[in-house]
Amino acid sequence: MDHKPVMLNEMLDWLAPKDKGVYIDGTFGAGGYSRAILRAADCRVFAIDRDPSTKTFAERLESEFPNRFIWLLGNFSDMCSLVSMHGVHEANGIVLDLGVSSMQLDKAERGFSFRNDGPLDMRMSSNGMTASDAVNQYGESELADIFYYYGEEKAARRIARAIVAARAITPITSTTQLAEIVRQSIGGKPQKSDPATRSFQGLRIHINQEFEAIENGLKEAEGILAPGGRLVVVTFHSLEDRIVKRFTHSRCGKLGEHSRHVPEKVQAGDAPHFFLPKPEKRTASAEEIATNPRSRSATMRMLIRERVEA
Ligand SMILES: C[S@@+](CC[C@H](N)C(=O)[O-])C[C@H]1O[C@@H](n2cnc3c(N)ncnc32)[C@H](O)[C@@H]1O
Repeated sequence: MDHKPVMLNEMLDWLAPKDKGVYIDGTFGAGGYSRAILRAADCRVFAIDRDPSTKTFAERLESEFPNRFIWLLGNFSDMCSLVSMHGVHEANGIVLDLGVSSMQLDKAERGFSFRNDGPLDMRMSSNGMTASDAVNQYGESELADIFYYYGEEKAARRIARAIVAARAITPITSTTQLAEIVRQSIGGKPQKSDPATRSFQGLRIHINQEFEAIENGLKEAEGILAPGGRLVVVTFHSLEDRIVKRFTHSRCGKLGEHSRHVPEKVQAGDAPHFFLPKPEKRTASAEEIATNPRSRSATMRMLIRERVEA
């Protein structure tokens, strides 16, 4: 099933695309956001995705909006250099809709979901280490840290120990094999969500270096936004949202404590040159949550770059 974009109207309302504007969609996916922006104004959209399989969706938009849409394969943490290859050095708006798409989750061969049996891969792009490499090669404490810090899994040490014991018998190569090891090591009463959820989240974040990408992506966005330009970010869990919140607060003079996830450049002491909207975050409406369950955990934040006085 194609990805159903979340909070589309809220994104358009906050991004407010303008004719002749240049917009960057840093997480193209199935192109729901890009298409909505292109329909809302006579603007150009540069769409980035690290997943080569999103090219199919890009080709549709290329023919629907000739000369106004450009798809770029890469990481949004490199957005400045990616768009500069097309002569673009300033953007009027940037959107980041973080995490994985429904296409990635639903395809068993991508290895993201413990619900479908597939190879334990979990890479959004087509290169780098797979989740199977990590669970079969990392030391016990390194695995425990991934589950604890990126999955917020309290039983992280127990799970890591069970993985090390299981892989001594046979390598862990499939999603269902790993999910079963996690479930058995947690044990206990049935829970509301599958006990493997948190460990899978932790591994996915680690394999795709998601937090590093967000940190660098925010820094890049800050550097390329034109005066008056807007940055809209949608997150899907509290760890992601915390990084974005600290960043937005620190850029607006609401300085919090030091965070290792907030780019150094924006820590206390820097002069703020962004505004926060009011309210500073939005969540999906009850109507949307009823029709698109993914939207239940979405949080949208936004920053507006100050206009420079003439
Ligand atoms: C939630 S989906 C975006 C859906 C999109 N807004 C739409 O309307 O179809 C996230 C997409 O972002 C991509 N992605 C995640 N992190 C990325 C990164 N650091 N750089 C580039 N693409 C990334 C994923 O591959 C995935 O296709």
